[in-house]
Amino acid sequence: MERITAIKGELQVKIEPIDTVYLDKVLEQNMQDPENLIMILQDVSAKYNYLPREVLNYVVERLNVSMSLIYSAATFYKAFSLKPRGKYIINVCLGTACHVRGAEKIKESLEERLNIHEGETTENLKFTLETVRCLGCCALGPVITVNETSYGGLDRGKALKIIEKYEDEA
Ligand code: FES
Repeated sequence: MERITAIKGELQVKIEPIDTVYLDKVLEQNMQDPENLIMILQDVSAKYNYLPREVLNYVVERLNVSMSLIYSAATFYKAFSLKPRGKYIINVCLGTACHVRGAEKIKESLEERLNIHEGETTENLKFTLETVRCLGCCALGPVITVNETSYGGLDRGKALKIIEKYEDEA
């Protein structure tokens, strides 16, 4: 269970307590082998949506590796985040094809609506707003994705309606 507090606009998430049963299972499945570190971090990220410091401390202890090794892996792969992330990861494509069709305005509208900037997460941990350089479907631009779902042919109004749908979800 996570407790969330916002201090000076920064998200702080306390994990109370860390799920050692889950972590032990993940470590066992990966034979407690540091060679499998990326797979272990993928499982941690899948559960918590980011890599909490407390969990990384536990992994360091159990694998007998250095924290710097874990940090270098965590910062090398874009899929990993050391900061809390939202349930829904919004990616706005700012590649050339989307940019010329107004992607920047869509990004600004989403920032305004969610009251966050690119790279940030809402205080309720519902949304994280990120950008990408091309999603590989340029003909459909402007395009955004919300987790694994892509939405194309957008303008500001359509993009905001999509976000409303996720906001309304329980
Ligand atoms: S530039 Fe946006 S999908 Fe390619």
